Amino acid sequence: MARKPLMAGNWKMNNTIGEAVVLAQNISNQYEDRWANECDVVVCPPFVDLKPAKTVFEFDRVEIGVGAQNVHWAESGAYTGEISVGMLKEIGCGWCIIGHSERRGYFGETNEDVNKKAKALIDGQIKPIICVGESLAVRDEGTTLDFVCAQVRAAFAGIDGSLAQSCVVAYEPIWAIGTGRTATPEQAQEVCAAIRVTLSEMYGAEVAEAMRVLYGGSMNPGNVEELIAQPDIDGGLIGGAALKAESFIQLIKACL
Ligand code: 13P
Repeated sequence: MARKPLMAGNWKMNNTIGEAVVLAQNISNQYEDRWANECDVVVCPPFVDLKPAKTVFEFDRVEIGVGAQNVHWAESGAYTGEISVGMLKEIGCGWCIIGHSERRGYFGETNEDVNKKAKALIDGQIKPIICVGESLAVRDEGTTLDFVCAQVRAAFAGIDGSLAQSCVVAYEPIWAIGTGRTATPEQAQEVCAAIRVTLSEMYGAEVAEAMRVLYGGSMNPGNVEELIAQPDIDGGLIGGAALKAESFIQLIKACL
């Protein structure tokens, strides 16, 4: 794999500050510095846990980044309940998940919102992790590639190639999230390859080859090897298995 893999844990709405500190410490204790050359590691806790988790990693001097799970595109203002790019930057947050299917499904996040968030994050030099993925209905219909590639095009609309390079795309089939039903390596590879073709059509092969495409959806220590062995899968966006230090560490080790 020419691209450096990325393992990102999405903690979703789990862990109080106290629990987050314990989990971050457990990850940090098992993390080995030399891994940083071979794999980027990020955890994405809830907003209130970002600073505590960041503080643990800074104190331990480990190269584990922190990312948010959402952001608003406006700089500031009357947006009750929202968090800005500037606020994330001040915490030292280097990454941000946007367009997760749970946000699209439960909170009405649209492709246009994802595009605005991506632009705001790029402006603020926070790396977007842009999630795309189809429902079971779309898969059964046989239109997965069209659907997912349209999400990619919409997310990157109006974003220049030189800036798109800082983004990561995470392919997360909705039917595989939290269900224990993983996409087969062939299914995941097919869609991740199509995502790269789309990026190549938008930005040229050189940019597309440099960008990371992750797989997410019930990734665990038992299936990680065969998934990341696929040529267009450059790491994982992990939910459940990122909530235990032992399994998250095993997933990182699979990338070394
Ligand atoms: P699971 O790993 O729990 O299926 O969640 C995947 C996911 O949604 C990561 O963003």
